Amino acid sequence: MSSLVIDNIGLLVTHDPEIGTRRDTALLLADGRVTAVERAGGPVADERLDAGGRCVIPGFVDSHTHLVFAGERSQEFAARMAGAPYAAGGIRDTVQATRAAGADELRSLAAARRREALRAGITTIEIKSGYALDVEGEARLCALACELSDEVTFLGAHVVPDEYAQRPDDYVALVCGEMLSACRPHARWIDVFCEQGAFDADQSRSVLRAGRDAGLGLRVHASQLGIGPGVQLAVEMGAASADHCTHLSGEDVAALAGSDTVATLLPATDFCTRQPYPDARRLLDAGVTVALATNCNPGSSYTTSMAFAIALAVREMHMTSEEALLAATLGGARALRREEVGHLGIGARGDAVLLAAPSPDHFVYRPGVPLVAATIVGGEVAWSDPELVPS
Ligand code: NIG
Repeated sequence: MSSLVIDNIGLLVTHDPEIGTRRDTALLLADGRVTAVERAGGPVADERLDAGGRCVIPGFVDSHTHLVFAGERSQEFAARMAGAPYAAGGIRDTVQATRAAGADELRSLAAARRREALRAGITTIEIKSGYALDVEGEARLCALACELSDEVTFLGAHVVPDEYAQRPDDYVALVCGEMLSACRPHARWIDVFCEQGAFDADQSRSVLRAGRDAGLGLRVHASQLGIGPGVQLAVEMGAASADHCTHLSGEDVAALAGSDTVATLLPATDFCTRQPYPDARRLLDAGVTVALATNCNPGSSYTTSMAFAIALAVREMHMTSEEALLAATLGGARALRREEVGHLGIGARGDAVLLAAPSPDHFVYRPGVPLVAATIVGGEVAWSDPELVPS
């Protein structure tokens, strides 16, 4: 059994109701789990990480990404900054590039993005397919995602590919049949982009039903570009999460509040698409569980920075710094229906982030500055900044 003590912590945020937030403390991790919180200088372990009086938080749980793709769309982004609107159709450009790429190229591109996310403090990550849109290609993306995460989502219903443009219902049938069977062995979740330009409510319901019948958990891209049926469909189907929620009606908020469906907000997307930000205050005040995620993808949010998402959530969405951190950790865990991550209670997985800062308030106080000094996964230092954490 190996053990690690993170000692000399100035501020420890655990999100555990009994331990809470502590000052001048030490966190003991053994056999991959949190085993004790004691006074600084107390515990002895195989390895010691000196926090130098800085802050330690639970590892980020990023519950919405599209990491496996080829190509990039900076020109589309530049056009948007010059006034062009975001539309679902840009996805097809990435589909073209991804279909043309070899498996090794896709593997190394996705692994590099996963490493980038680790340096940003992300210890649990969900990864969607959705940039192949044919049977073999979607199965390939799910299998590649599986090499990087246990939280793989089959998103064959991202948009209708060009070859099915005139017969979208045939594409839905393919997604619900042969494509689902090919992807099922690699996936835990199924997702659908329920939006104008992608899939309507009936098509989305068919996809979710097929996924549920195959034993997958449900997630929905909902109300990204306008008020639509996605949020209420997610609630009706018992989805774990409705993601985006940028445009919500009163009925949407009420439906979420009366359900277990998490509202996953993706403010970096709204930043990158020049959209309004979701009304997080309204959701929180109604009692909705809120998660924050990066939505790393080449079209609407090419970032792995949860710190950026937190800064936007506080500055633009009127969340407090505590609420934003909670949403980026425990909220993400709830969106993935995971009990053992997103907090540092006794028995939790030993996933923590040592900040190069005295408190999480610095995510918004020092925007754009890299504030992760070390990322600890399963009780081991998975990455550390050599200047801040000398070995
Ligand atoms: O969550 N909205 C659908 N999917 C992604 C965007 C993908 C893309 O533009 O390539 C999203 O924002």
